[in-house]
Parts: sequence; C-alpha cells; structure tokens
Amino acid sequence: MKAIVYTEYGSPDVLQIKEVAKPAPQDNEVLIRVHATPVSFGDLLARNFKNITPRQFNMPFFFWLPARFAFGVNKPKKYILGSEFAGEVEAVGAAVTRFKQGDQVFGYRGQSMGAYAEYVCMPENGVLAIKPANLTYEEAAAVPYGALTALSLLRKVNLQSGQKVLINGASGGIGSAAVQLGKYFGAEVTGVCSTPRVGYVKALGADKVIDYTQEDFTQNKETYDLIFDILGKSSFARGKSSLKPNGRYLFASFKMKQLLQMLFTSIRGGQKVICALSAETAENLNLIKELSEAGKFKSVIDKCYPLEQMAEAHRYVETGQKQGNVVITV
Ligand SMILES: NC(=O)c1ccc[n+]([C@@H]2O[C@H](COP(=O)([O-])OP(=O)(O)OC[C@H]3O[C@@H](n4cnc5c(N)ncnc54)[C@H](OP(=O)(O)O)[C@@H]3O)[C@@H](O)[C@H]2O)c1
Repeated sequence: MKAIVYTEYGSPDVLQIKEVAKPAPQDNEVLIRVHATPVSFGDLLARNFKNITPRQFNMPFFFWLPARFAFGVNKPKKYILGSEFAGEVEAVGAAVTRFKQGDQVFGYRGQSMGAYAEYVCMPENGVLAIKPANLTYEEAAAVPYGALTALSLLRKVNLQSGQKVLINGASGGIGSAAVQLGKYFGAEVTGVCSTPRVGYVKALGADKVIDYTQEDFTQNKETYDLIFDILGKSSFARGKSSLKPNGRYLFASFKMKQLLQMLFTSIRGGQKVICALSAETAENLNLIKELSEAGKFKSVIDKCYPLEQMAEAHRYVETGQKQGNVVITV
C-alpha cells in the first residue's frame, strides 16, 4: 500500500510517499481502507519532535521526556504519522462482532498514529465508530481529535447549562470543538482568537468573540464560570479577576506552575485551577456522531490535498492561516 513515511525528524520535506506492507487484521481487529486523514497539531509536533525543546513543549518536562522516548530520541520510531481517519471497513478479524465489511467508519489512533496510509487496522473496541451519515469522509476524519479532547476535558469540569464559559484558543482543533460542545451543554460561550478567525469562531456558534490582538479579556470586567485555555497562553494570576468566585480555570496545556496552582487552589475554597488530560473513548465518539447527525456539531474544512501533497499540507498548516481543518484525501 502507499503511505507517507518519515525516517528522520525535520521540515515537511521529510514526509515521503512510499510503498509499505499492507497490514493484516488480527482476530479482534478491522482492516480499514482510509479515505481521509487530517493534518493535526500532534502530526506537526511528532514530525519535528527532535527539535522541540522542553520549553517549546506545552506540557511539563516529565511529559516531554517519555514522549521523546516514545517517538524516538534521534530518529522517529513510528514511521507513519496520522492519528485520525475516516474510511471503509474492508475486512474483519474472526472475532469481530461490532463492525462488518463495507461499514463507513471514523476513528482515533492517538499516539499509535499510522493513518497517513491507504490502510490501517483498528481493534474493534478501539476509538472507532460508524461515520456520521451526513458528513463526507473528509469532514468526518477531521472530527475525532478536537471533539474527543474537548468533550473529555469539558466533562471533567461538569459544565452546566446557563454557565458562562470563555475559550482561549477557540479557532484551533480543540477550541473549535469546545465552542460547539459548550453550546451543546447550554453554556453562554465566548471565544478568543486572532483577527482573521473572528468570523470563523462566530460561525461555529460562539455568542461572543474576542479578538486578542485588540482586546485583553482579563481587562473587560466580564466574569465567567469557566475559562478554558487550550494553549496555556493566559495566566491564572492575571485571569482570575475574570473568574466568578467559584469559577474554574481549565488548562489543556500546562507546566509545573499551573500544576502547583492546581494543588494550592484544591486545598482552599473558591476559584480552582484544573490541569487535565483527555481520555478518548468510543462512547464519546458515538455521541459526537449523533451530534453531527443532529446538526449540533460541524466539521469545517479549509483545504483538502491528495496524499502525494502531504508536505504541502503540512507547510500550509505551519503558516498558521488555516480556518478549520486541513485534510488529506487518500
Ligand atoms: N490536555 C490534554 O489532554 C491535551 C490533549 C491534546 C492536546 N493538548 C494540547 O492542546 C494544544 C493544541 O491544541 P489544538 O490542537 O487546538 O491546537 P491548534 O489547532 O494549533 O490551535 C491552537 C489555536 O490557538 C490560537 N492561539 C495562538 N496564540 C494564541 C493566543 N495568544 N491567545 C489565544 N489563542 C491563541 C491559534 O489561533 P489564532 O491565531 O486564531 O489565535 C490556534 O488556532 C497543545 O498545546 C497540546 O499539548 C492537550
């Protein structure tokens, strides 16, 4: 089969199209013919991991170190990137009961990666679900990472209907899903992003959008039940005046400082800092499927590229101009 392989870390040029062995499903696995796979934050990070210093990594050093070993210290250990996909089940292992040949599916492989290829195998109990009927393969492929991360993290803070939430980083993979899920949970949602993406975040359903190049949300006297910071660009010290007395400051990206703030705020009453890791599940993916089919969750495509132009696609994402998802049609 054809796959995009990288054998050294570096610029998008390290991504080369190659012939590799087609995987064969184990008894508990399904073989999927991949139709689409997006370029996500994790793909860019893993492609160049050797050159990402602990400081540039948006997580504590003790997360960076095992990630460095997992991805490979000097050369990548996993040759094929791609953590999300949508495609069609081509064959199933002898023990598989939940899926059958011909099912249109979408799923998430996390750090196992491997979706930049014509075929992948997934355990039937993995993060795999029937594709939303109303989405194209390209639209469906772009859903799992952002939606599953945002849903898992929002569930950890038990967002309630009527609460006010601010999402800092609302135009990215996780943030754009968090805006839509915030509305699904019945919250009043304010998204924070840069000027070119104000319209995009508004179109996702945000009640208000703050352009951080024009306005500092910590200075406008608004207060929120939840501030959800995706990239960890804001600080609790500055932002706590924008939190209600029992408000929570949720960080998807954090360092030791925020972990210590979490410890400190957990032992006193009032505002809390929460640093959380997402847990992606098939149950959550099925909920996202239902929300998509009910028109409550959108997948916005910025550009599609053929598999052969993977490097171009990475280059485009690196410009920071995308509004929505960049997807590879396989
Ligand atoms: N906790 C977990 O379990 C977990 C899981 C997965 C990923 N993560 C973390 O999530 C992060 C990646 O998120 P993502 O995939 O959503 O990234 P992404 O798609 O690259 O989006 C990040 C967004 O942040 C915005 N941004 C940049 N500077 C900003 C600023 N100063 N203020 C507000 N927004 C700013 C950018 O858009 P604008 O230019 O429009 O602002 C961009 O769209 C990584 O740090 C990763 O470590 C955490």
